[in-house]
Amino acid sequence: METIDRIKAHYRFTDEDVSNLAGLRPVMERRRDEFVVEFYNYVKNFEEAHKFLKDEATIKRHQEALKVWFMKLFAGSYDSLYLAELGKVGLAHVKISLHAHYVNAAFHFVKRYIHETLRKEYSDQEERARLLRSADKILDINLDIFTSSYIEEEKKFFLSQKVESYLIQMANRFTHGLNLVLVLGLVVLGFMVIGLFAYDLLHVLDGDLEKGLLSTLGSLLMLWVVIELMGTEIKHLRGGKFAIKVFISVALVAVIRKILVTSLKTDAVEAQLSLVGAVAVLGAVYWLVSKVDS
Ligand code: HEM
Repeated sequence: METIDRIKAHYRFTDEDVSNLAGLRPVMERRRDEFVVEFYNYVKNFEEAHKFLKDEATIKRHQEALKVWFMKLFAGSYDSLYLAELGKVGLAHVKISLHAHYVNAAFHFVKRYIHETLRKEYSDQEERARLLRSADKILDINLDIFTSSYIEEEKKFFLSQKVESYLIQMANRFTHGLNLVLVLGLVVLGFMVIGLFAYDLLHVLDGDLEKGLLSTLGSLLMLWVVIELMGTEIKHLRGGKFAIKVFISVALVAVIRKILVTSLKTDAVEAQLSLVGAVAVLGAVYWLVSKVDS
């Protein structure tokens, strides 16, 4: 991390800049509230602004924090405490995953706002140019520190960037391999269910029509589940999102099949009732998940 003295030296930030900025304080104090209003008019056009400034409480907190930040630009005190405070603000944006581009664009607005204010308030060109130079320096220093927070965050590695990206790549390939094994397993399962379907069909030929038909219906349901699972897995392999719904439908079908089989036994009323309860619960969960998905 850079020290405040090194930063000041790199931007040629002198005592003259300090007094120029401190001299601007009364002018900027008068415009503090207007600054925040115009800042928000500008920022609200960012497509994703509402994701970060998501409710009235957050907006209020941010607007108050902005006022304090704005006035500190002209406080005339730029020591290591000031540097630490700016680091904290930068980190606050990193933590909420605010795109660095938005921070840069917002700074562009602040720069324009201050230029425009100085143009309105100072008619003497030389004086204005002098004040502008100091304002630009402190804004560039601020943006520098905010940007460093993003870079520091990117540099966080447990081992080293090379080792970590290699590990991630390996883990990615392994996961892809496991997914292919899963598809293969589902293909094998599909063949087995076809076998079960053929076996159940034999009951029909045996003469036990009711048992044969209900069992065949059960195995057809299982075939449908395997097809669903395979479809979901293929979609997932092609980059689709993980579909929790299909797992609930697997459970639903398994219970429905069980009901079909137990319906043949007249003495299994209690077991049937608990299975019907399970179908009702699973059905409700399926409905809720579908509602959230859509
Ligand atoms: C010139 C650019 C900006 C400045 C000077 C600035 C200033 C600040 C300050 C001083 C804080 C308080 C940090 C703390 O808690 O210590 C803050 C937080 C925050 N900023 Fe900014 N900000 C800027 C740009 C933006 C933009 C463009 C957005 C969104 C589109 C944004 C969204 C937020 C949010 C959501 C928080 C957290 C608020 C909370 O929950 O308390 N900021 N910002």
